[in-house]
Amino acid sequence: MKAIVVMDQAAGTAGMKLVERPEPQAAINDVVVQVHASGFTSGELTWPSTWTDRLDRDRSPTIPGQELAGVVTALGYGTTGLSVGQRVFGLADSYRGGTLAEYVAVEVRNLAPLPGDVDFSVGAAVAMPGLTAWQGLFVHGRLQAGQSILVHGAAGAVGSMVTQLARDAGAYVIGTGRAADRQKALDFGAQEFVDLEKDDLEGVGGVHLVFDVIGGDIGKRSAGLVRNGGTLVTIAGPTEARPADGLAIDFVLVSDRTQLSEIVQRVRDGRLRPNIGNIASLDEAVAAFNPTRRISGKTIIRVRP
Ligand SMILES: NC(=O)c1ccc[n+]([C@@H]2O[C@H](COP(=O)([O-])OP(=O)(O)OC[C@H]3O[C@@H](n4cnc5c(N)ncnc54)[C@H](OP(=O)(O)O)[C@@H]3O)[C@@H](O)[C@H]2O)c1
Repeated sequence: MKAIVVMDQAAGTAGMKLVERPEPQAAINDVVVQVHASGFTSGELTWPSTWTDRLDRDRSPTIPGQELAGVVTALGYGTTGLSVGQRVFGLADSYRGGTLAEYVAVEVRNLAPLPGDVDFSVGAAVAMPGLTAWQGLFVHGRLQAGQSILVHGAAGAVGSMVTQLARDAGAYVIGTGRAADRQKALDFGAQEFVDLEKDDLEGVGGVHLVFDVIGGDIGKRSAGLVRNGGTLVTIAGPTEARPADGLAIDFVLVSDRTQLSEIVQRVRDGRLRPNIGNIASLDEAVAAFNPTRRISGKTIIRVRP
């Protein structure tokens, strides 16, 4: 089968190569999925799990990519809940990855059915950002209707899902990002927008929840914007500052079939729009992940036309 591989962490996405690899086998509790569309998260090539297995042994050359939508072609021993021929979407385990390929073996619990009226590209595009947003907002952030939330990078892949889900849950959403993204963030539902390069972030005042996707200085300054009893949730690594009277939570998402089903239901009824910046074939994938212009939104690899 055709697959994208990486061998050299220092090379980043420039080190990606399109090669021939053997098709994967379904282990116990796995399904093999014929990938129709897949995605890759910026930062994935810096994660230890991309390069080693759980015993810290080198597992390169690695096929990266966690996000996928496709059709089940084989079931491993003891696998229940999905059937051969079923449309699915979800997230491969970060220690296995493998979705930038024609076939991938995935633990069945990491996938959910993809309804027939949802395009594979859309399924692949909402899996990672949708789950991250869901878990940050409702599992870790415990967002309630009527609360206020500051969403950093609100026009980005994760931020746009956070913005939409938070609005849908009845929160007041202040988005942030670069000036060029103001209209996009407002279109996804932000009620206000802060240009991080020009506006006064501290002027935002106290919010119940900050959802940080940027970290660094922005993350640090955001801790002071959380009102008493509120929460700073981050996906950009451990926080360097904590709210004076509140929680700071950094988390890494996990796949969850029930949450994937909630997310895809919102896609079907129009409450959640995917944020796709570019769609490329597997043959074009290396170029697509090394763009010569800024891409806002996810790059989706359409593995089967
Ligand atoms: N912990 C987890 O479970 C988890 C899950 C998913 C993603 N992540 C990580 O979360 C981060 C965001 O992921 P994503 O897929 O949403 O990325 P993305 O689509 O690139 O979105 C990030 C957004 O923030 C903006 N931004 C970044 N730095 C900025 C700055 N200094 N000032 C203003 N705007 C800034 C970006 O604009 P530009 O494009 O112009 O920089 C972009 O619009 C990545 O580092 C990713 O690896 C973590």
